[in-house]
Amino acid sequence: MKTTLTSVIKDPALAPEGKLKIDWASAHMPVLNRIREQFEREQPFKGLRVAISLHLEAKTAYLAKVVQAGGAEVAITGSNPLSTQDDVCAALVEDGIAVFAKYNPTPEEYHDLLVRTVETKPDLIIDDGGDLVTILHTERQDLLPGVRGGAEETTTGILRLKAMDREGSLKFPMVAVNDAYCKYLFDNRYGTGQSVWDGINRTTNLVVAGKTVVVNGYGWCGKGVAMRAKGLGANVVVTEVDAIKAVEAYMDGFTVLSMDEAAKVGEFFVTVTGNKDVIRGSHIEKMKDGAILSNAGHFDVEVNLVELAALSVSKRTVRRNIEEYQLKDGRRIYVLAEGRLVNLAAGDGHPAEIMDMTFALQALSLKYVNEHYRSIGNRVVNVPYELDEQVARTKLESLGIRIDSLSAEQKAYLDSWAAH
Ligand SMILES: NC(=O)c1ccc[n+]([C@@H]2O[C@H](COP(=O)([O-])OP(=O)(O)OC[C@H]3O[C@@H](n4cnc5c(N)ncnc54)[C@H](O)[C@@H]3O)[C@@H](O)[C@H]2O)c1
Repeated sequence: MKTTLTSVIKDPALAPEGKLKIDWASAHMPVLNRIREQFEREQPFKGLRVAISLHLEAKTAYLAKVVQAGGAEVAITGSNPLSTQDDVCAALVEDGIAVFAKYNPTPEEYHDLLVRTVETKPDLIIDDGGDLVTILHTERQDLLPGVRGGAEETTTGILRLKAMDREGSLKFPMVAVNDAYCKYLFDNRYGTGQSVWDGINRTTNLVVAGKTVVVNGYGWCGKGVAMRAKGLGANVVVTEVDAIKAVEAYMDGFTVLSMDEAAKVGEFFVTVTGNKDVIRGSHIEKMKDGAILSNAGHFDVEVNLVELAALSVSKRTVRRNIEEYQLKDGRRIYVLAEGRLVNLAAGDGHPAEIMDMTFALQALSLKYVNEHYRSIGNRVVNVPYELDEQVARTKLESLGIRIDSLSAEQKAYLDSWAAH
């Protein structure tokens, strides 16, 4: 359903360029295309309002259009000040979606755009990092009763939701999309792995081969970033706080060091932990001249820029998305995209085929929570396995790949404890 709400965007004239980007992405999203056809027939969101906060680029725009095709009136905003693409916003407004987003707003504007999105009084939400949920549970609690539920995109958002769930403060059900197999196995690992290096390479235009890359955090994203760094010919060092992940990184062939040791040898650094102060002043003091710092975790808290600034005598922009900090002893430290997620703030995010599966899960999870919100209760729940499997099967079909199925005898054998 087309909205009558007035959008807040940078420039409506950018719509043609945005439309081309959305067309390119959607042509490479076969799973979501299948869901779009299903939604057009079934109209699961007829008469409902859906508010979305996601990195607002072309793949996300197509998800918004799929939800709209399912009968919803859609309002959308970004989930990071630097990842919104103004041309994509303009194209969505032409398609009758309410957009409250622009590239690089001030912190106050960014917050205001989120609040405006919440003020569309959604029945359902899609969140990325928990911004919409937080505003609904703090500043605009008056709107909570109208919300049936929603779906959360990322690891950091789910950690926050689980904290709310534990203390009993969550006021509607949320589906943990990140924790589905078809999300973290592909999006976090291969999506982040590829797009982080795309972002770093297009921003720096420097060689990676032969250099020492430090990956902070060996979770699902970190594994992908380390794997692709190795593929580019880097010497890869991993830092961790979890002993099991550290052993995993070692067995995968990477050097595991403490951050104090890694700080001395790294040439590129990529933080991807979901934690704060992973790179801080005491590390920066040990770094080589010319070290390049970037972050791929959800919030811009992983590199402590305040401590970096305190160690510096000057700061200047040396290339688009690269800030040079000169330290008192003359060493230069470079920070990409202000320490915000480098693959989105200095790139186009994950490849379309990856977001196809993630956003298929988002679309199906939103339908699921709308159908079951009363029975779920105010909790964080996993994506049902059948939906995860549906996405994987549709993905295989789109690739023309067939797999085997269990015979009755095989199934009985696997189900029995006494069979030989
Ligand atoms: N850039 C993207 O496009 C993108 C995509 C998906 C997720 N994310 C975000 O990336 C972050 C990581 O996600 P994930 O799915 O890999 O999480 P994860 O929980 O699988 O992994 C995080 C890892 O970081 C480690 N860690 C925590 N503190 C650390 C520290 N101080 N030093 C070293 N290691 C530390 C943890 O032990 C864990 O192994 C989250 O903020 C998530 O929201 C970003």
